[in-house]
Amino acid sequence: MASALQVLKANQGQGMGTFPDEMLEAFAEIMTLNEVEDGHIFVKEGEKISKIMLVESGKLLRTRMSAPDEEKEDIMKAGIDKIKENSIVVDEILPGTHATGLFHNFEAGATAFATITSSGPSKIWCIPGDKFRAVVTKPEFSILMMATMAKTVRTYKKSMRGLLDKIQDSGVSDVEKGIHILSYDATSWVIDNFNVAIKKFNSENDFKLIMEYTTDRLSSKSASYAAGFDVVCLFVNDTADAETIQILSNGGVKMIANRCAGFDRVDTKAALAYGVSLARVPAYSPYAVAEFAISLLMGVNRKIARASSRVKMGNFSLDGGLMGTDIYGKTVGVMGTGKIGQILCGIIKGFGANLICYDVFESDAIKEMDGKYVSKEEIFAQSDILFLMMPLLPPTKHTINDSMLNQLKPGVTLINSSRGGLVDAKSVLKGIHEGIIAGYGADVYENETEYFFQDYSAKIVTDPTLMALLAENRVLLTAHQAFFTQEAVDGIVNTTL
Ligand SMILES: NC(=O)c1ccc[n+]([C@@H]2O[C@H](COP(=O)([O-])OP(=O)(O)OC[C@H]3O[C@@H](n4cnc5c(N)ncnc54)[C@H](O)[C@@H]3O)[C@@H](O)[C@H]2O)c1
Repeated sequence: MASALQVLKANQGQGMGTFPDEMLEAFAEIMTLNEVEDGHIFVKEGEKISKIMLVESGKLLRTRMSAPDEEKEDIMKAGIDKIKENSIVVDEILPGTHATGLFHNFEAGATAFATITSSGPSKIWCIPGDKFRAVVTKPEFSILMMATMAKTVRTYKKSMRGLLDKIQDSGVSDVEKGIHILSYDATSWVIDNFNVAIKKFNSENDFKLIMEYTTDRLSSKSASYAAGFDVVCLFVNDTADAETIQILSNGGVKMIANRCAGFDRVDTKAALAYGVSLARVPAYSPYAVAEFAISLLMGVNRKIARASSRVKMGNFSLDGGLMGTDIYGKTVGVMGTGKIGQILCGIIKGFGANLICYDVFESDAIKEMDGKYVSKEEIFAQSDILFLMMPLLPPTKHTINDSMLNQLKPGVTLINSSRGGLVDAKSVLKGIHEGIIAGYGADVYENETEYFFQDYSAKIVTDPTLMALLAENRVLLTAHQAFFTQEAVDGIVNTTL
């Protein structure tokens, strides 16, 4: 077993800072060893941290609750299994790499940001906070420690200077100016429309919004750009997973404002755990998306893209697969009758089609327009045209997959303007090749992040499934533009602000 002094020395320069030997020896005398099993709780989130903890062997986990505030007390009381189930790991404290509780114990009464538990059987050395303070406030140690800390601060400040300069250059450090927002994945329509709206907003309000833009998408690699900003503004292909949110939070970001409806790429549990608030634009002209979904249907059904390119090449014949079908009298299925789904249903009724729907929540508006809710099996079996209008959630992922293809009515036309992950695109292609699916109109693709919103015309698309979709005549694919009308963009911008 290592001695207390050895463990302290192993942590030098890490979480314990670099203390002079005389002080380490004084700390060693007041340290006690705790040999604990997996799941031993040292400190609970929100409690006072009254000791410093160093790991000799095993591991400490720092976890933060990802449950809503009102549920936290009951979860804490329920014990380690329930805490684990409702928390995310913020970091791991390993032998010789970190100490935890150091800063909290300079001042009595500081509370814990995270719950600290052992992971596996562990040997944990603890320094009680009151005894620690008694050592560091001895006159001979105080001056030594101040010298050590001054040296450490100077070293870190030097290495941080580049970042600080960058922040100061951008004006972000000037808190007087207002709320600083970094907008990721900013293309020209974003910059043009937000700049106009922000100018108007700032002229009408007491506080200012200052938005900066980057064409980069948010990920764990680009999250550090937001250091010093208050808010990040995201779009459909930015990724805010737990690691990214931790980096954003460390950099002082307090809010994620999604300038879109879907939030499937944001780890909401991690945001709760780090206290980063989330906002989205729940509705912005649902007409834009519903009308585009109808355009996809008409485009696939009446072969508009193919016909247009043939005519442009001087081929004015009707031979070669241009024939479509009437929508009138067909059975049209709509899965997901939310804001967009309902508008779509109204348009479908205008065609004189027979409307059937499936949703986990039934809406009176659908029944009033003479739509009929049916089971999932029935909507698959009866629909001549099937629209996917639900959000991407674990239960809706790959709603269209290999194992359900034979439940579909042969010759069905499938339309997806919601999220690519609602279908397994390989299964859709299989369905097309087996004659089950007559056509697929989509504005989204599961792995669209790498390609959509970018000009790849002079580059090579290497995703084999995307290439297969593009090569298939019976597929009409657009690059996430269903929302893209002036009215919807105005709605997005104003709601985001
Ligand atoms: N392509 C685009 O440009 C674009 C633009 C906006 C929205 N969208 C997508 O459209 C989706 C729908 O938007 P909305 O505004 O109508 O959302 P909404 O929240 O108003 O409606 C979603 C509906 O889906 C239902 N639903 C949830 N889980 C379901 C399940 N397992 N099975 C069936 N139905 C289920 C809900 O009950 C709700 O009625 C969004 O989630 C987003 O992914 C795409």
